[in-house]
Amino acid sequence: MKRFFPGMIIAGYLLVLTFGMGRTAGAAAVSSCGCHPTKAEKQYTHKPVRQGECESCHRPSGEKHPKVKKGAFVLTDNGKVGLCNECHERKDTMKYVHGPVGSGDCLACHDAHQSENKSQLREPPARLCFMCHEKKQFDRKHPHPPIADGNCTGCHDPHESNVKYMLKGEGVNLCILCHDKAMFSGKSIHKPVGQGDCNACHATHGTENPRLLRNFYADEFYMPFNKGNFALCFGCHNNQLADDKLTDVQTGFRNGLENIHFIHINKLEKGRSCKVCHDPHAASQQRLISAKISGFGRWRIPIRYTKTETGGTCVVGCHKPKSYDRINAVNNP
Ligand code: HEC
Ligand code: HEC
Ligand code: HEC
Ligand code: HEC
Ligand code: HEC
Ligand code: HEC
Ligand code: HEC
Ligand code: HEC
Ligand code: HEC
Repeated sequence: MKRFFPGMIIAGYLLVLTFGMGRTAGAAAVSSCGCHPTKAEKQYTHKPVRQGECESCHRPSGEKHPKVKKGAFVLTDNGKVGLCNECHERKDTMKYVHGPVGSGDCLACHDAHQSENKSQLREPPARLCFMCHEKKQFDRKHPHPPIADGNCTGCHDPHESNVKYMLKGEGVNLCILCHDKAMFSGKSIHKPVGQGDCNACHATHGTENPRLLRNFYADEFYMPFNKGNFALCFGCHNNQLADDKLTDVQTGFRNGLENIHFIHINKLEKGRSCKVCHDPHAASQQRLISAKISGFGRWRIPIRYTKTETGGTCVVGCHKPKSYDRINAVNNP
């Protein structure tokens, strides 16, 4: 609503002058429309309707009513957006305007008088959007919870926005309307996360994989090594980082030539998941190394990782402190 609406005052003044000389607006107006089924019985009734100001929208045309059934009243702009704009801020001034708003079809979603739904919506929020958008398109095995709840407007403005698709925020700013920002900050931040590109790994409406992931990423802590289990990571990283026992190129996680990714991951039975060490978003230590290993139920083992020019050191609950160095291999006790 406009905070100040001189237009309304002027319009009201003109109305009174032209049609209502000395009449008390509210009650009188309602009773004068008493033949019509009441337009103000539902829980959400448009304020001017509730106040009986029928004539603020239905302007007498001069024809005698109710003698003349049709044409005694006219709606500004045939009841389209011009009428609504007499009292409301325009909703088509931003860069991206929703189709029906752009075409002035406010009544596609709102009832001008009343409704069982908040904001006089024609359908409850969970169904409103599916009047025009295909519901099937949103049926995924793992839908994003707000989609499952029918909360499309948690992310989309129903009218307009300066962000494409009428989104309520750009990149990560959209996500942190509901998710904790702390998850995406730290000493090391995964590059796509730093770029606000959540979309690189997650499909916002939903996916066939858990966690809205675009590619498979195993939930388990231990599993036989198989690059399909980490299809997500290997969509961008070279899967060879865990292929060879000895290497001088495939990974920086090596002691001399000894590939330490291989040692942890590449096992027939109990290979470890990337998540044992890496957080996919951000971490308080270098190289996305999580501060704590999750996966042993409630027991979360702390890891302390320090990086050096040519290697690093890990202090972990599950083994003695160990160091690695790519140039001068360390002899760990
Ligand atoms: C905010 C503007 C507005 C106000 C105030 C308003 N109307 Fe309407 N009315 C409309 C519009 C727009 C239409 C045509 C579109 C539609 O049917 O929803 C309409 C249609 C109607 C119709 C014909 C269709 C139907 O729904 O039966 C009647 C009768 C009517 N209004 C009566 C009233 C009465 C009585 C009041 C006062 C209690 C009132 N209106 C107040 C905007 C308004
Ligand atoms: C005569 C003035 C007037 C006209 C014309 C008018 N409105 Fe309103 N409308 C109001 C007032 C007053 C409110 C109450 C605002 C408030 O409480 O802040 C309101 C509130 C609303 C709300 C919010 C209801 C809620 O519960 O949040 C919607 C939606 C709305 N109007 C839609 C429309 C549409 C669509 C049209 C055009 C068909 C329209 N209005 C035309 C005066 C008008
Ligand atoms: C695609 C459906 C849709 C269309 C078309 C639409 N609205 Fe809305 N409108 C909504 C929804 C949904 C809400 C409730 C928003 C919320 O609760 O976050 C809303 C809320 C409102 C409100 C109250 C809150 C606010 O943003 O001020 C007004 C006033 C309003 N609409 C006016 C209009 C007018 C005027 C038009 C035509 C220019 C229009 N709407 C077209 C869906 C629509
Ligand atoms: C009255 C029909 C109607 C309703 C109801 C409706 N939409 Fe739309 N929507 C459209 C039309 C028409 C377009 C424009 C399609 C195009 O340009 O291809 C559109 C486009 C969109 C777009 C942008 C698509 C793009 O490619 O830019 C989004 C996002 C969207 N709608 C979301 C919603 C949401 C969320 C709701 C419920 C609050 C909703 N729509 C309800 C008719 C509707
Ligand atoms: C968690 C935020 C979020 C929610 C909730 C959400 N959307 Fe979207 N929507 C997006 C984002 C982000 C895009 C941009 C394209 C993309 O990432 O897929 C988008 C794009 C769209 C588009 C245009 C592109 C396309 O896929 O056709 C439409 C239409 C759309 N959404 C409708 C809806 C409807 C309808 C709902 C409710 C069922 C909904 N959205 C709920 C975030 C959301
Ligand atoms: C309107 C609120 C809202 C917005 C905005 C939102 N989410 Fe969510 N999201 C939720 C809720 C609620 C859950 C379920 C509870 C939880 O995990 O926090 C969830 C869960 C998730 C999950 C875990 C799903 C699972 O199956 O465990 C992912 C991944 C996710 N959101 C990603 C995103 C991304 C990426 C964005 C931005 C594009 C985003 N969310 C924006 C509300 C939102
Ligand atoms: C490089 C891929 C990648 C990117 C980019 C990414 N995520 Fe994730 N996200 C994941 C993975 C993998 C998981 C599942 C973690 C697990 O199962 O341990 C996840 C899980 C989540 C969860 C659920 C967390 C939980 O504990 O249930 C949310 C919420 C989430 N991501 C939001 C986001 C947001 C917001 C962004 C953008 C800032 C983003 N993600 C960017 C890979 C990514
Ligand atoms: C969308 C592409 C993408 C996906 C998917 C992806 N990453 Fe990355 N990752 C990158 C980019 C880009 C870099 C930065 C590379 C560089 O700077 O050379 C990076 C860097 C890293 C780094 C080094 C971080 C540092 O601070 O130097 C680690 C560790 C990492 N990713 C682990 C993973 C894991 C684990 C997964 C799967 C959960 C994954 N990535 C999935 C794009 C991706
Ligand atoms: C035992 C802990 C551990 C596990 C498990 C682990 N990583 Fe790493 N990773 C590291 C460490 C430590 C580094 C830092 C190496 C350096 O730069 O000194 C690293 C570095 C990386 C890098 C940066 C490039 C490189 O190879 O040096 C990527 C990408 C990466 N890991 C991806 C993965 C993926 C994908 C998985 C799962 C398939 C995985 N990691 C499993 C500890 C681990």
